Amino acid sequence: MMRGKEFPGIVLVGFMGSGKSSVGRELARRFDARFVDLDERIEQAAGCPIRDLFAREGEPAFREREKNALREVLSVKGCVVATGGGAFADEGNRVLLRSYAPVVYLETGVEALLDRLAGDVERPLLRGGERESVVRELLSRRVPGYREADFTVRTDGRTVQEVAGQVAGWIERTEGGTG
Ligand code: S3P
Repeated sequence: MMRGKEFPGIVLVGFMGSGKSSVGRELARRFDARFVDLDERIEQAAGCPIRDLFAREGEPAFREREKNALREVLSVKGCVVATGGGAFADEGNRVLLRSYAPVVYLETGVEALLDRLAGDVERPLLRGGERESVVRELLSRRVPGYREADFTVRTDGRTVQEVAGQVAGWIERTEGGTG
């Protein structure tokens, strides 16, 4: 795998519930690379869950923490990085992430997202308000940013293995060379 060139790393972007963390873990396993979950880094640095950060400090402070975590994470080359659903919505973050590694958008339709997010109590942005309209509204604001990714994989009705397989195939075709 990846003969002829080094594994460049991968950045996964997409909405909450699109499978970034699970697909990221699987890709890291396949490429024998380090997996980094940006949200986990933020929680480790803060010493508390993201939902508490939102409650305590509000969203703008969370976005600052997200930017700081991003800069730290991107200082190590060649990782598989799962971002939080809002990270790639910021233009500065997009520039940083795109210069780090190929960016893959895990695209998921609104119905599948609503199914996967049903019953979620961890994600602060889904609290309050009618969930379907919150998801539709956020999604429509973010999709133009997500579309700036280098490659898009549809995830509806697909397993983690299938999605990871498609991403891995694309990386090998575009980055792998022939050895
Ligand atoms: C957010 C998504 C979450 C987390 C935070 C904000 C968002 O990550 O970063 O709750 O703005 O969409 P996941 O996409 O991993 O759920």
